[in-house]
Amino acid sequence: MHYFAYKKNKLFCEDIEIEHLAKTYGTPLYVYSVRTILEHFDKLKSALAEVNPLIAYSVKANSNLAILKLLVDNGAGLDIVSGGELFRAKKVRCLGSKIVYASVGKTESEIRDAINYGVLMFNIESLPELVKINDIAGSMNKNVKAAIRINPDVQAKTHKYITTGQKSNKFGIDFETAWEIFLKREKYPNVALAGIHMHIGSQITEGGPFVKALKRAVRFIADLKKIGVKLEYLNIGGGLGIIYAKETPQTALEFAGKVLPDLKKTGLKIILEPGRFIVGNAAALVARVTYVKEAKSKIFVVVDAAMNDLIRPALYNAWHTILNITKDAKAPRKPVDIVGPVCESGDFLGKDRTLAAKEGDYIAVLGAGAYGFSMSSNYNSRRRACEVLVDKNSVKVIRRRETYEDLINREIL
Ligand code: LLP
Repeated sequence: MHYFAYKKNKLFCEDIEIEHLAKTYGTPLYVYSVRTILEHFDKLKSALAEVNPLIAYSVKANSNLAILKLLVDNGAGLDIVSGGELFRAKKVRCLGSKIVYASVGKTESEIRDAINYGVLMFNIESLPELVKINDIAGSMNKNVKAAIRINPDVQAKTHKYITTGQKSNKFGIDFETAWEIFLKREKYPNVALAGIHMHIGSQITEGGPFVKALKRAVRFIADLKKIGVKLEYLNIGGGLGIIYAKETPQTALEFAGKVLPDLKKTGLKIILEPGRFIVGNAAALVARVTYVKEAKSKIFVVVDAAMNDLIRPALYNAWHTILNITKDAKAPRKPVDIVGPVCESGDFLGKDRTLAAKEGDYIAVLGAGAYGFSMSSNYNSRRRACEVLVDKNSVKVIRRRETYEDLINREIL
């Protein structure tokens, strides 16, 4: 569900015509819908209302301050993975008590900053990290909370680059090692091991892997209880899949139906870290057709957005719906590849699509809200796109298009 739809052959975001936005702000342009973001957040929150979870939005999915603020003002917490994301969290005045901090490579200064800000907890990914956090907290005369991120070793059907809960992944700690850590918890007097964390991957459309991982975690929590380890939190991560093409992901309610019994059984405070589910369908990347190149083998629609703006197709072979922003019944629709101007064969937004496109037309790449702008770069010395946020019939620029000066202002001749 999202608010990008045609009204009389013109594509709108909420109540604003996208062509108007493209002409006003230029392209490439990220267009976000407030309503889509908030409705997804609410869907998850209300589906799991019985356990009143902390929904810590995963900043990496889209870290624009305006989007973070929108979510924080509506009650979200934040899931961060770096000093930079902590900085953003502070900028939008997210309470420390609503921040969880993951990442396999937290540095000493990042840990210090997070302790100073009073984050709710660290999600610990390795024994050396636990030792480091314990030492730092001790030196600061602080006691901090942490969850052990377990690697439940389940297979989630998703792209191999974005599965995280299998033994072969770098993430989390296996049950055996985690058990040892809990047994020896008095070795870490400055860290209260207060929870279990897991995150098994991203864009997972079925409930099965979540339930499997959760059951393993619940059993582990019960075993810990038997040896006197009392936990306070269970963080089940993010990973809920969305519709890009013809996926039929579980709805928030279906997801809740599957996990609630086990979540309730634990009696623990529940945390979730959704990213994509909240912002994924909430944006379109709008681009203008620069050329239509009719090569011998196929037709290439060359647009002014590229892999530096949206890397998902190039990196994961991800499929995003691509639409003409004006539906013209008379324009011939042809099979085409939609490509950018970057000097890489992998620079495409969509392959083998049927589209009517001529020079100067605009297209919209849907499902661009998560891991779109946040993974963008300046490759080929391209300025990063402008971002606008639409709320019913009002629009706000939430990131100005970069200038050429922005490209070089850290460089020294
Ligand atoms: N929690 C942890 C510990 C994570 O590593 C992630 C995502 C999330 C939460 C949020 O996951 P989500 O709800 O968004 O699935 N760039 C890839 C996705 C990478 C996901 C990284 N971790 C993509 O474009 O598909």
